[in-house]
Amino acid sequence: MLATLSEDGLQAIQILDQTLLPAQAVIRRLTTLEDVAHAIRHMQVRGAPLIGATAAYGVALGLQAADIPAHDQRLADVLATLAATRPTAVNLHWALARMQQALMPLPVAQRAAAAWQAARAIAQEDAAANAAIGQHGLPLLADLAARRGRVQVMTHCNAGWLATVANGTALAPVYAAQQAGLAVHVWVSETRPRNQGWLTAWELQQAGIPHTLIADNAAGLLLMQGKVDLIIVGADRIAANGDTANKVGTYLKALAAAAHGIPFYVAAPRSTIDFACPTGADIPIEERAAAELDSPLGQDTAVANPAFDITPATLIDGIITDTGLHTAQHLRP
Ligand code: MRU
Repeated sequence: MLATLSEDGLQAIQILDQTLLPAQAVIRRLTTLEDVAHAIRHMQVRGAPLIGATAAYGVALGLQAADIPAHDQRLADVLATLAATRPTAVNLHWALARMQQALMPLPVAQRAAAAWQAARAIAQEDAAANAAIGQHGLPLLADLAARRGRVQVMTHCNAGWLATVANGTALAPVYAAQQAGLAVHVWVSETRPRNQGWLTAWELQQAGIPHTLIADNAAGLLLMQGKVDLIIVGADRIAANGDTANKVGTYLKALAAAAHGIPFYVAAPRSTIDFACPTGADIPIEERAAAELDSPLGQDTAVANPAFDITPATLIDGIITDTGLHTAQHLRP
């Protein structure tokens, strides 16, 4: 499997540029803090867990500049630059807080080397957490496949290996099901305006998993027609009460799933749960550029482009994390 993020041995990192996928698979080499901030802001890397791990490496790159000592002010500036790139995915802020905790107590001369180690640990933990999500989600799919012969999953956006260091979140149980020999089919919604669903379709194509691409607005009909056994989506931030921010359009799927009695699950590592954020109303929603809608009406037409929405915990049947399957309304630190 391709890596979304890797070190290249020369104190640089390599990323798969997701703005060019699925047409082209281009690896970019990032060597500076500014390279990393640009890659996150412009979504060359995207997906909450991947953003967090990449930002951690951004701290390492920011502290290794030979002409700038890694004193407290430099560390604070590096953290602030990365924190300002995207607001909603809490994994970014979680990773930066962890880097700060690891580096601040150290002598200045040791910080740059320690930052590489800390970033590596975050990346490795993400891959392991997502593999665990796959195993904890697998019984849900296995149960449905046993009763129906095959299991039909619907997902939204891209929460596969591309969006993480490895293994994916929402797609981790799907990959686990494939490995277990279950018959699985995935409904993939395009996810306008950025079309992250195309990334999901590309991933599933690479893995040889049967899937069907749909327009976002087709989801309700498929749920009504009984063509979906369960929905699994990723998350950018889960509030303490279980309300969940994910790619805009997730909430409508959850509403339609509830109307038709279809189970709706969120899959995310614990780094996505923000216990400091009481409810979904407290989650900052990123507003992205109007140009992403690419409207033929031109600049005179007002455009709103919220990148995420909030699905209330009451619509979520369970949250699959690296520690197991949890009730959304009873999350524990
Ligand atoms: O704007 P994006 O593409 O970074 O948003 C990604 C999502 O909403 C994903 O569903 C979420 O980050 C989970 S990724 C494992």
